[in-house]
Amino acid sequence: MTEPMNERAVGVFDSGLGGLTCVAELIKLMPHENIVYFGDTARIPYGTRSNETILEYAKQDVNFIKRTNVKMIIAACGTVSSIVGKTKDFGGDVPFTGVVIPAVQAACAATRNGRIGVIGTPATIRSGAYGKAIRNIRTDAAVIGNACPLFVPMVEAGITDKNDPVVKSMTERYLKPIKNEGADVLILGCTHYPHLREAISEFMGDDVTLISSGAEAAKYALNTLTGQNMLSSRTDQGTVTYYTSDSAELFRENAETFLGGKISGEVNRVTIEELIRS
Ligand code: DGL
Repeated sequence: MTEPMNERAVGVFDSGLGGLTCVAELIKLMPHENIVYFGDTARIPYGTRSNETILEYAKQDVNFIKRTNVKMIIAACGTVSSIVGKTKDFGGDVPFTGVVIPAVQAACAATRNGRIGVIGTPATIRSGAYGKAIRNIRTDAAVIGNACPLFVPMVEAGITDKNDPVVKSMTERYLKPIKNEGADVLILGCTHYPHLREAISEFMGDDVTLISSGAEAAKYALNTLTGQNMLSSRTDQGTVTYYTSDSAELFRENAETFLGGKISGEVNRVTIEELIRS
C-alpha cells in the first residue's frame, strides 16, 4: 500500500552534523512529522571543495533522500544551498528548499541599518549567493561577507566553548571585519555555526541579531507545508530516521554530543557506492 503524501517524512540532508540544527527546529515546530536525515559524514567537508564536486555530491544526496519517499526536501547545508542556487526542479515533484532564501528573508526583516553580515564556508562566500539574494529583497543593503574555514572542523571536533582560547581567537579573526563595518544582523550561513553562537554573540554584542540558517529553513518548511496543505494528520510524536555515509556508531555518538542529549531513532549506514548509484 502506498503511503498518503501527507504522511510521508520530511527529508533533510547536510554534509555532516550541521543540518541537525534544522532538525532540532523542525521537531519543535512540527512534532508530529516524521523526519529522514542524511549526513554525508564520510565526505565532509563540502565547503572547501569545488563547485563541480559540491554539485555532484548534492545531486547524489538528493537522489538518495528521494528514494526514502519524502514529501519535501531541505538542503540544510549553506554550501549546497549556495551552489545549487535557485534550481527549482532540484526536488523534482516534491517541494525543495535550501537555507539561503529563508535566512535572507529573516535577515532583511531584522536589519535596521541595512548592513548585513554573512559568514559561511569558503564555497558559500565565494558563490556570493547570500549577497545576491539579499539585494533581490533590499537593493540598498550593504553585505559584508567573510569565509570561516576553520569553524566547521572546530564544531565537528566539539571545540565550541566561548572561553576556549582557540574559539576566542578564531571568532575575533573572522568576525572583526564584519563588526568594524557596523552590521546589525549576522547570518550564520553555515548550519554548523549555531554551535558557536555564544562566542559569536559575545564578540558581536547584544545589538547584533544572529540568524540561524538551519532554523530559518525549518520555519520556511513549516510555511510551505502549511500553505500546500501537506502537514501530517498524525497526533503522536513523529520519528526521526538517520542515515550516514560513515559509521553509524560514530554518527550517533557525535550527534548526541552535537545536540547535547540522546537521539531517539535508528541510525543506518549508506555506503558511498549506494549513494553514487542513487
Ligand atoms: N553544514 C555545511 C554548511 O552549512 C558546512 C560543512 C561543510 O563544509 O561541509 O555549509
